[in-house]
Amino acid sequence: MATIIDGNRIRDEIKAELKPRVARLASSKRPPGLSVVLVGSHAASEVYVRNKVKTALELGICSEKITPPESITTEELLAIVDELNGRDEVDGILVQLPLPKQVDTKRILLAVAPEKDVDGFHPYNVGCLVAALPAPRACTPAGIIQLLKRYEIPIAGKRAVVVGRSDIVGKPTALMLLHEHATVTICHSKTVNLPAVCREADILVAAMGRPALITGEYIKPGATVIDVGTNSLTSRGEIARIFRDSAEKLAAFDKKGSVLVGDLDPVDVAERSGAYTPVPGGVGPLTIAMLMVNTVESAERRLGVC
Ligand code: GUN
Repeated sequence: MATIIDGNRIRDEIKAELKPRVARLASSKRPPGLSVVLVGSHAASEVYVRNKVKTALELGICSEKITPPESITTEELLAIVDELNGRDEVDGILVQLPLPKQVDTKRILLAVAPEKDVDGFHPYNVGCLVAALPAPRACTPAGIIQLLKRYEIPIAGKRAVVVGRSDIVGKPTALMLLHEHATVTICHSKTVNLPAVCREADILVAAMGRPALITGEYIKPGATVIDVGTNSLTSRGEIARIFRDSAEKLAAFDKKGSVLVGDLDPVDVAERSGAYTPVPGGVGPLTIAMLMVNTVESAERRLGVC
């Protein structure tokens, strides 16, 4: 039986470790501050941001949500970021992605002060990752490393395959696995014979945003499989096919109108892998936990409490 990697448990562990650090900051200087910018009304982003702000408040981090309209221009959003850069009590700035089409995302990410960039998306911090220098790290990839380490899954010397080359997940995850001494391959839409490359992986990370694409033939028996996908299925037929007519999933669909699935075939991964992250409850909770770690570390650095 495969081990189910419980992201909620590890998130709670990390939150418990952060609590005394937040308390120490609050009693000696001030609580950490996190500002989250959510532009417009993107349904998934609204859920993510609500959970980020809620978790921050639970930990005693001062958190605010700024919600400019969908019609905002690049210049107007730059002015908001600039104001946050200048506010002393703001240790972390997060601009939720994706941004509306008319906004130049690269200019916005470049405008966030690198020392407040709790997403680890600023090119300066990306450069620090490449050079293995200390700096805020992208939250989802950092969370994946935490899951592997806390489940004592060996990384050094192992073959790791990352499917997906996004700036947010694929590329930084590959670099972090490399720094942990894995032999890393990055795959993408042009990779020839993807199943054969994936089958070489002792650690397989699926981060391409394609529902249940990775089936049994992609998985080396006993491999550790990390599923970063969160795809919302709204077709009853597709849910029935992917979950093999699961009465539980079909009932969930009938109640809510959608069911989440990762990039992995949920039935095959449970049968073939040695350990895997479920969707939901695997990688997702770690993204928020690592955002909290980055925010607390930023506050400690900025306030000289280390
Ligand atoms: N959109 C999806 N994931 C993320 C994330 O980790 N940070 C931000 N800012 N936007 C996202």
